[in-house]
Amino acid sequence: MIEELLAAAKAARSNAYAPYSNYKVGAAIRSESNIIYAGCNVENAVYPLGQCAERVAIQAMVRAGETRIAELLLLTENGETPCGACRQVMTEFAHDSMQIYLANGGSVVQETTLGALLPRAFRLR
Ligand code: THU
Repeated sequence: MIEELLAAAKAARSNAYAPYSNYKVGAAIRSESNIIYAGCNVENAVYPLGQCAERVAIQAMVRAGETRIAELLLLTENGETPCGACRQVMTEFAHDSMQIYLANGGSVVQETTLGALLPRAFRLR
């Protein structure tokens, strides 16, 4: 299960477009219907227009007609946590109990939940 997410995140990360930060990120989501969607970060010369890998993966999921994330794996070079903006975007499509796996270049180094990373998140629905 986690291996599939890790493989998808690795493949996505290999296409990361990060010429400005040189910090390549891959993300893989398993939707509630058990399909995997992946994303990589896509930077831009106008820096604020750059997109995080998690949001690119979420956009792919929504584009495919799905709106619920069961679990997510984030692959960075150092096993970092998702940025605050991505935590809020995940909140739109996931329960607090959603599992988040943090991986470095090779393997999963930590497991947490969305609720642990963004307690008392803002929701309208
Ligand atoms: N980045 C992500 O893709 N996800 C995160 O959660 C944190 C940051 C990207 C954005 C930028 O392209 C690079 O990492 C450095 O911040």
